[in-house]
Amino acid sequence: MTAKILSGREIAESIKEEVRNEVARLFEEQGFRPGLTVVRVGEDPASAVYVGNKVKTSHELGIVSEHIHLEADTTHDEVLSTVKRLNRRDDIDGILVQLPLPDHIDENAILEAIDPQKDVDGFHPMNVGRLNQGQRSLVPCTPAGVIEILKRSGIGIAGKHAVVVGRSNIVGKPMAALLLKENATVTICHSRTTDLPSITRQADILVAAIGKAGFVRGEHIREGATVIDVGINSVSDIDLAADLFSEEDLPKRLAAIEKRGSTLVGDVNPKEAIEKAANFTPVPGGVGLLTVAMLMKNTVEAAKMRRNL
Ligand code: GUN
Repeated sequence: MTAKILSGREIAESIKEEVRNEVARLFEEQGFRPGLTVVRVGEDPASAVYVGNKVKTSHELGIVSEHIHLEADTTHDEVLSTVKRLNRRDDIDGILVQLPLPDHIDENAILEAIDPQKDVDGFHPMNVGRLNQGQRSLVPCTPAGVIEILKRSGIGIAGKHAVVVGRSNIVGKPMAALLLKENATVTICHSRTTDLPSITRQADILVAAIGKAGFVRGEHIREGATVIDVGINSVSDIDLAADLFSEEDLPKRLAAIEKRGSTLVGDVNPKEAIEKAANFTPVPGGVGLLTVAMLMKNTVEAAKMRRNL
């Protein structure tokens, strides 16, 4: 079997187009534009790229967006008071504190300080609880994007066995909650799972969110499964790249390593997944593109919920 590649590009573009139209409608009919503030602390290079994308996409869709960049040595209390100030501002509908935060800052305390109504990441315990109760809430962007990819590609979820590998608060756990809400039978696996391949091979839908380049291999995948790769890893090792990519894809990956020092790889071995899966999301160009689109959607959702629209 050769997998169908589920491109995130068109799906992300459709969602952004829907958001753009909704933003225009809100401005025309209600006289306001949704506002998003992204807070970044320190100099994590990947975070700088992600935040840049979030702010740029906001502007493109008509969302008013600002970026607050605090120095790496900003104290916990200063970050906390920044969040509290944003909670009080009526023109701000969404607050996103980019993770990871520097080690001296208590991440959970900062996330709990965000007004749940403005929590466009869906990381506040109130929103986590609401999601788990199946109530309307703001939902973490990356797992919400995975659901959109499945639905808009016509892949049924109800009644399927979905296996999520990874139990992070950002992806694994909310992913499992969303799949359950869509009536899948859900199994969560993690680093302490015994005989992982025997479980992942039962998956109709396999979601990989582990954070290890190419970890999920052919032996983990049932013939004909849908494999969703949430990982984003930089690979600079040429031998590892040779193990991950087909003869067709390898030359451009090696060229990227040569030119930029690394190439982006997911948590799934793409060469082996393409041979066994029926559907497969590529890295880059898959789930990652949905994350920003869903953040935009959440910002509009937050703006409407806060105004009882
Ligand atoms: N860092 C990596 N992914 C995310 C995300 O979805 N939200 C935030 N706030 N930080 C992240």
